[in-house]
Amino acid sequence: MSNTPSFAAMPNEEGFFGPYGGQLVPPELKAIMDDINQAYETIRNKDSFKTELADLFAHYVGRPSPIFHAKRLSQKLGGAQIHLKREDLNHTGAHKINHCLGEALLAKYMGKTKVLAETGAGQHGVALATACALVGIPCEIHMGQSDIVKEHPNVTKMKILGATLVPVTQGAATLKEAVDSAFEEYLKDPQHFFYAIGSVVGPHPFPKMVRDFQSIIGKEARQQFLTQHNTLPNYIAACVGGGSNAIGMFTAFLNDSAVKLVGVEPAGEGLNTQRHSATLTKGKPGEIHGMACYVLADDEGNPAEVHSIASGLDYPGVGPQHSYLKDIGRVDYHSVTDEECLNAFMELSRVEGIIPALESAHAVAWAMREAPKHGSDVNILVNLSGRGDKDADYVAERLGLA
Ligand SMILES: Cc1ncc(COP(=O)(O)O)c(C=O)c1O
Repeated sequence: MSNTPSFAAMPNEEGFFGPYGGQLVPPELKAIMDDINQAYETIRNKDSFKTELADLFAHYVGRPSPIFHAKRLSQKLGGAQIHLKREDLNHTGAHKINHCLGEALLAKYMGKTKVLAETGAGQHGVALATACALVGIPCEIHMGQSDIVKEHPNVTKMKILGATLVPVTQGAATLKEAVDSAFEEYLKDPQHFFYAIGSVVGPHPFPKMVRDFQSIIGKEARQQFLTQHNTLPNYIAACVGGGSNAIGMFTAFLNDSAVKLVGVEPAGEGLNTQRHSATLTKGKPGEIHGMACYVLADDEGNPAEVHSIASGLDYPGVGPQHSYLKDIGRVDYHSVTDEECLNAFMELSRVEGIIPALESAHAVAWAMREAPKHGSDVNILVNLSGRGDKDADYVAERLGLA
């Protein structure tokens, strides 16, 4: 890794992380992306913006989110100690609020008239609707019909918060189709609309910008863990859909070579079936939604129909920085099935009294698989990206608890 460029200097000016990223969009849109990048680079260094965002993180989101030592779960597994970075305790119940506040403030600063986005599990939609209500900008959320049914509590919240909800019925009617639909709407007036992408994906500068807003997670966690334990964790695990909570956690630790970083992808009904969404594990370098990254493609080379029990993880692309971190070997990517995820969801609920989001339960499941292989002197820090209220009815019905 000694020949790799400094992580802090990434991406380069064209938005590339090694061969991944960039702005694979028509020239007119490239000009608009460049405007957003310029506005972002200006605003991020303004004291007034930094102060406003820090104040909202502290008094609106409730940061810093704590790190909780899951003692009973660790004891039950009989190995490494598991610790949870509690992003589920943020206002709106997930990490998504970190970048939504940043994006909504930027949209306002740029004088945009409407903020729009896709959502899968509804967490990004709720967080964005919340941030837009706070900042005072109209908000429009595109969501697959399948996810609308599954994630109904979040749909209701978005409506209460004043967002316009656009149901998407094309194809599998999940996250990829929602991105396509939101993008189509955005292209009608990109001068005045702001597409607030929900993860570290899309054309430059979004993978950089969303990463920067999310990197508060790792910054806090590194300091908190050192204060609590006088050492850094041996492993850090986070689930990966587009990759925003994972990159937000990993960024502060990229130069700590002794800390093993693990991204956990959804193996769905099994990696040997077509019903998974393990893009980095089973995909190949390609292009999707304006960026170069690993992609799961079908036989014709189109983005594959993907599946995960967690609506926020079923995306056939992945952030360009993750694609790069996989290739250089700085992060290991593993996968967890729907069944393992459900098991972790129930274990964490019943042993620690914490109901995790199905997305976050993937990272918990990996930690539960890994912990028994180690002694009690090993520490695993899991990014608990969100809470599971939105999934409770679905899980209860699926497991016959309803
Ligand atoms: C709680 C939670 N965690 C994780 C994710 C996955 O997104 P990302 O990989 O960008 O963190 C989502 C997406 O909706 C989510 O709601």
